[in-house]
Amino acid sequence: MTLSAYEAKDLFQWLTDKEDILVLDVRNDKDFGRFKVEAPYSFDMINISYYDFMEIEEESVAKVPKGRPIRIVCAKEGSAKYVGEILVKHGFEDVRYLTGGIKTWGNLLVAKTVHDGDNYSLYQFIRPGKASCSYGLCSNGEMMLFDPSRNVEFYLDFAKKKNCSIIKTFETHLQADYIAGSRQIAEETGADFFGGIDFEGTQAGNKSVTDNEIHSFSNGGPDVKVLFTPGHTPGSLTFIIDNTYMISGDTVLIQSIGRPDLGGQVDQWAVLLFNTIKKVAKLDESLIVLPGHYMDWSEADTNLIFCMPFGEVKKRNAEVFSITEEKDFIEYIKGNMRDQPPEYALIRLANGNMEQYDIDKQEELDLGKNECAATAYAKAQNKQKES
Ligand SMILES: [Fe+2]
Repeated sequence: MTLSAYEAKDLFQWLTDKEDILVLDVRNDKDFGRFKVEAPYSFDMINISYYDFMEIEEESVAKVPKGRPIRIVCAKEGSAKYVGEILVKHGFEDVRYLTGGIKTWGNLLVAKTVHDGDNYSLYQFIRPGKASCSYGLCSNGEMMLFDPSRNVEFYLDFAKKKNCSIIKTFETHLQADYIAGSRQIAEETGADFFGGIDFEGTQAGNKSVTDNEIHSFSNGGPDVKVLFTPGHTPGSLTFIIDNTYMISGDTVLIQSIGRPDLGGQVDQWAVLLFNTIKKVAKLDESLIVLPGHYMDWSEADTNLIFCMPFGEVKKRNAEVFSITEEKDFIEYIKGNMRDQPPEYALIRLANGNMEQYDIDKQEELDLGKNECAATAYAKAQNKQKES
């Protein structure tokens, strides 16, 4: 048996199909601890550094169980290939290495159909490596995007396959946890790029929006209503599509709400968020929430789509939605605060086009799971997994 390659999308498919594979991550334990493959269902993964395979080959090989397909992950590709060759030499069968390394997993986007009607189609693009979601809305040969990531080629290909031209791209806010794709998509396609007041004073080149304004397609199609929902950031926006779907950015999440402390002005932003939550709570409970992030695959529905009626979201997050006093809300937020990754300041600069980074730096900044939710749920979960 010889060694062969696989791609990030193959890995996602195998893990979603619950295939009996073993994922062998050969990065060092620090990088592994910071960011690792996550999938809708539990699966077996072990971490043995490729240094160990170099230095104590026999001992390291003995730690890998035989008889199952082995899928190796490393930082760039080379060390997975190196370890794969060792395993093949030791008689392992069906061994494959990840083409392009973990960053290709980090950039992977998976398209899911949220709505497919006569008038329009709505897609959720899940980014498993970031635990984030972007969206595409197609109608009569035109497409609008919401929070596209920097995997711009994916969106351009998707639009082409759907015979659509991208006419508008929206950012729900100035993202801190990943490099956004709207600016580049606008440059490459001529689409209009819209963002809220977060972008004032930046070089992002976006057009501004007003509260309650409506965006439409050239020929019929659904209305897209812009709502100002400040708090996670001062310019956070929510989009209501066809009075049916709520693209909520990092304001309302299925688990928790977006944290208001990322800008270093927690008191001011928490007050904004308190008022926003009060305003949003009055929206129709049948609206389907489509969040910008998730904490965990357990939030997905049976079709592995991250969506939930707003009434249910409010029930799940009653702890937050039931707070009636501003001071209690601020206390709640402060009680759940945690450090933010140092990369976030640099990512904000990139998203405002205030700083330009080369591809390698962009990849480095963009890798890793988001830290956008107000509760320490994600952190607690990571601790659980490590122990
Ligand atoms: Fe965010």
